[in-house]
Amino acid sequence: MRLVVVSNRVTIPDRHEKATAGGLAVALREALEKYGGLWFGWSGAVGEDTRQVQRGNVTYAVTDLTEAERQSYYLGFSNRALWPIMHYRLGLTEFQRSDYMGYLGVNRRFARALAGLIQPDDVIWIHDYHLIPLAAELRRRGVTNRIGYFHHIPWPSADVLGALPFSATLVRTLAAYDLIGMQTELDVRNLIGGLVDLCGARQEGRRVRLGARETLMQAFPIGIDVEAFRRLAAASVRRAVTPLRATRESLGERKLVIGVDRLDYSKGIVQRLEAFGQFLRSHPEQRGNVSLLQIAPPSRSDVPEYAELDRMSDEVAGRLNAQLGEFDWTPIRVVKKAYSRTALAGFYRRAQVGLVTPMRDGMNLVAKEYVAAQDPADPGVLVLSRFAGAAQQMGEALIVNPYDTHEVAEAIRTALAMPKSERIRRFEQLYHVIETTDIDWWRRRYLEALTGVPLSTGAVEPPRKTGTRTKGDSATRRASRAKGAAVPGRTDTKSRAVAAGHKASPHPGDAGHSTPVR
Ligand code: F6P
Repeated sequence: MRLVVVSNRVTIPDRHEKATAGGLAVALREALEKYGGLWFGWSGAVGEDTRQVQRGNVTYAVTDLTEAERQSYYLGFSNRALWPIMHYRLGLTEFQRSDYMGYLGVNRRFARALAGLIQPDDVIWIHDYHLIPLAAELRRRGVTNRIGYFHHIPWPSADVLGALPFSATLVRTLAAYDLIGMQTELDVRNLIGGLVDLCGARQEGRRVRLGARETLMQAFPIGIDVEAFRRLAAASVRRAVTPLRATRESLGERKLVIGVDRLDYSKGIVQRLEAFGQFLRSHPEQRGNVSLLQIAPPSRSDVPEYAELDRMSDEVAGRLNAQLGEFDWTPIRVVKKAYSRTALAGFYRRAQVGLVTPMRDGMNLVAKEYVAAQDPADPGVLVLSRFAGAAQQMGEALIVNPYDTHEVAEAIRTALAMPKSERIRRFEQLYHVIETTDIDWWRRRYLEALTGVPLSTGAVEPPRKTGTRTKGDSATRRASRAKGAAVPGRTDTKSRAVAAGHKASPHPGDAGHSTPVR
């Protein structure tokens, strides 16, 4: 079997990238390296170039988009129509027929290029809403291989999605897939409802029949590389990464509340700033004792709704700082730039509260990274929106409604006042969840469902080296480690050292440059 991954953007790795790339990119690349394979998609550039680059046993096949394609396929239909409606934001949804035609055109062009590269035993794994009709286009060109799709963002009910012109036609193309993966059970239910209501499909449990095709729908909540992130966080503290040192100096003993998101309206950044302002107004004794650091790297700035959010977040932060700040204390710092993963891990660990309050989110990996980065002996508290997919798994966070400013403000207060024993109890449960459903678990479960072959049998996966620990073994060990428990086969001293945040193995290297926040 050879694996073919298709995603909107493809970054060809350079020699140093392994340490800096985000969890998903690394997980997919690892899967490709295991099986040998092909990663196909947009180069991220505007032009007319198409090229293939070989890195080990992985071929990266990338193509530029023309400016017209970028406008219609990427900025237009994907990000002004599909993105808002998938995030339940009908009011922000801007549909243009020409954008939809451009979207279909790019999918057709990708299918034409990809069909020529497919081999008979390839398994094809397509990612994200930009590429929904790609499998149907491949089938039209005679591709009969197994094709899976993973939808990284939410999927709304048929009532909401049905408002999008051509939604029934678009949803119908999903029948070309053998397996559709969603982040949560709610997304699966909504998707099945959409296929039944909008397209007249027949449901049989988790399978949906449409015409001659049968598609399996299943939830696969995506995870992170918990162990790698935990190590990054511990290393960043020891190595005093520059932005952290500066933060430490400027904050002194003050507590830190942190938010980290792409500058996107789905993330609820403006609402979060307002909630922090409300918290300071309701609890004046906290003024001067705590600051909010919001890291918000700009994103999709050519889309007008994003430009508006950029302006609004500056305005709200400026107003709140002017109203509530003191000459020696700035309540809110909004930093619109990306940081290395090492620096982010260090910021998370320094923060007493992780504020993850999207208005709607497929999963939200920041919630998982915040937990992974905590010091097990003195962890911070996660405040999490009930509308993030992560809330389905992370019930031990303080779950809030991001539309309720007062509720979020009170959760900040509760988090800051929470006794250490309760913080540790919640942290241990959350850590256990994210570790047992990490990125490796996600990838293996998805590929098992798509190929129909349990990867652990070795029938699909290359044989493990003799003496290599199984994934189950290492997950159990790491979960125990996070709890500070003695791990069978290890000395007590070593497991205690790790639980206390000491380095267990060589750090993965400082990330010299920044990576996107999903
Ligand atoms: O989560 C959906 C997603 O499209 C990711 O695939 C991507 O990394 C992220 O949003 C950022 O989007 P963009 O590629 O438009 O900057």
